[in-house]
Amino acid sequence: MKTPTLYKRVVIGVVGAAAILGGCRGDRTDAPPRRFFPDMDHQPKWNPQADSPFFENGSTARVPDPNAVAFGRLPFSPADYGDQPWAASFMSERASFLAEDDAVYLGKAPDGSYIDYIPVPVTLERIERGQERFNIFCATCHGTAGDGKSLVAERFIAKPVNLNTEPYTDPTLRTARDGYMYEVIRNGVRNMPGYAHALNAQDTWNVVMYVRALQKSHSGTLEQVPQGQRDTLERERPAAPPPPETDGEDSTEGSGA
Ligand code: HEC
Repeated sequence: MKTPTLYKRVVIGVVGAAAILGGCRGDRTDAPPRRFFPDMDHQPKWNPQADSPFFENGSTARVPDPNAVAFGRLPFSPADYGDQPWAASFMSERASFLAEDDAVYLGKAPDGSYIDYIPVPVTLERIERGQERFNIFCATCHGTAGDGKSLVAERFIAKPVNLNTEPYTDPTLRTARDGYMYEVIRNGVRNMPGYAHALNAQDTWNVVMYVRALQKSHSGTLEQVPQGQRDTLERERPAAPPPPETDGEDSTEGSGA
């Protein structure tokens, strides 16, 4: 006797639920949908090329104001604006690096291959600027020494590479070309995000310069360091393991025991 009652209840429940759920389907309403976190998803706007009842010519597209200042790469024409005061900084940047140039902007040669060498002048000032940018944008993952050791690296799904290793130092490899590093920084690669939003062309080259300096600092020998600074390095260096027996050179004290 119990079973049919339970059975009925189940049937009524299922049919009822189906009716309720089914009833929700296909309803039309003019009411705006409920949005619990609307943020700024929906705002009044004109789409480009759309009709506009507001402007006289019926189009949302506007002719730029004649006094609008050109911004960005292409619309700036030195012939038209070069002598104007506001253009002075653009002109000086142009003179130093803003060439309309695939090497500078894409790190590529005309045949599309990555260029071997940084195409802008390398100066100490720029390397230092690159160091600063590197420590802000790259060190978080690749470590301040570029060796791929960082807190992020410990938890990231992919390992940020050690920039001081062969794929990035051996000049015969594609991945070690300056143009390739430029490309990676600007546009990212596989699991690494690009930094074009934060680093313009010049800053990107500055970072490449610094990475090259960083790599050199890892492959150098103590003898290449100016005499006056060797002592500091020696002091900061972690205790070296005792040298092998065959090595006849003077060893520093402290390695005995
Ligand atoms: C969010 C962490 C992160 C940041 C920040 C970051 N990288 Fe990377 N980078 C990675 C990871 C992860 C890889 C390995 C990508 C892979 O193999 O999927 C990588 C790979 C690279 C490579 C090797 C590319 C290759 O094809 O082997 C270079 C060069 C590089 N990064 C340079 C830089 C420079 C320079 C910066 C600073 C502008 C930077 N990265 C910032 C995570 C990062």
